[in-house]
Amino acid sequence: MVQLLQLDASPRRSRSHTRTLVREFAERWSEGGPGNTVIRRDLGHEPPPHLTEDWIAAAFTTPGERTTQMREALAYSDQLVDELFASDVLVLGVPMYNFGVPAMLKAYIDQIVRVGRTFSFDPEAAAPYTPLVSGKRAFVIVGTGDAGYEMGGPLASANHVEPYLRTALGFIGIDEVEFVYTGNDEFGGERLQRSLAFARNRVAELTSVGAVSHRHPVAEHAAPQRD
Ligand SMILES: Cc1cc2nc3c(=O)[nH]c(=O)nc-3n(C[C@H](O)[C@H](O)[C@H](O)COP(=O)(O)O)c2cc1C
Repeated sequence: MVQLLQLDASPRRSRSHTRTLVREFAERWSEGGPGNTVIRRDLGHEPPPHLTEDWIAAAFTTPGERTTQMREALAYSDQLVDELFASDVLVLGVPMYNFGVPAMLKAYIDQIVRVGRTFSFDPEAAAPYTPLVSGKRAFVIVGTGDAGYEMGGPLASANHVEPYLRTALGFIGIDEVEFVYTGNDEFGGERLQRSLAFARNRVAELTSVGAVSHRHPVAEHAAPQRD
């Protein structure tokens, strides 16, 4: 069994470009083989809770010393981490909000970056942080109102989605991450349609037979430029 974890962060029920593209990714994934399964987490409609003082105290207490109340404070986070470990591939739909990830996705990241579960910390070691997640790939579909946020694009310096997600996912051990951009939502019309078509082709390429199961990174591709 090869499992895909589908994470949607857009709160839009209709007209969400990232939801549309993530759905296409997941559908193509499911059709890719009889053992391909999908778990869905709708962060846009059911946002993970923000961290609390109790959560932090519990997370930084060694498991054997946790009280029942502490274990309860971490129960939801444990569920998300278990789900992550059970998955082989992740696909994330991420609307860019004010140049970064939406708060719902930030809340999810805060729940899964857990000392002792997804990374370890040894203050005495030469390299104090060790990622505990391995063998996973992530695909991130980013939706933007403008365009040209791809690395090398005219708005790349304003893109705090890709550097942040590469750092946070890399920190726990997910360093094979492929980004697909769909832009021009604010302009609509032909510009939007071109951008969507480009992203849709890229999703088709990425989910073509065998592409997502191979361990080597998918070849670089030319990114769409801002109109
Ligand atoms: C609150 C808010 C903030 C946004 N911030 C940006 C931004 O910083 N840069 C940008 O290009 N587009 C921005 N947009 C546009 C969205 O990124 C764009 O509509 C995208 O398509 C949203 O993803 P979705 O279609 O999956 O909902 C913003 C939209 C909203 C609602």
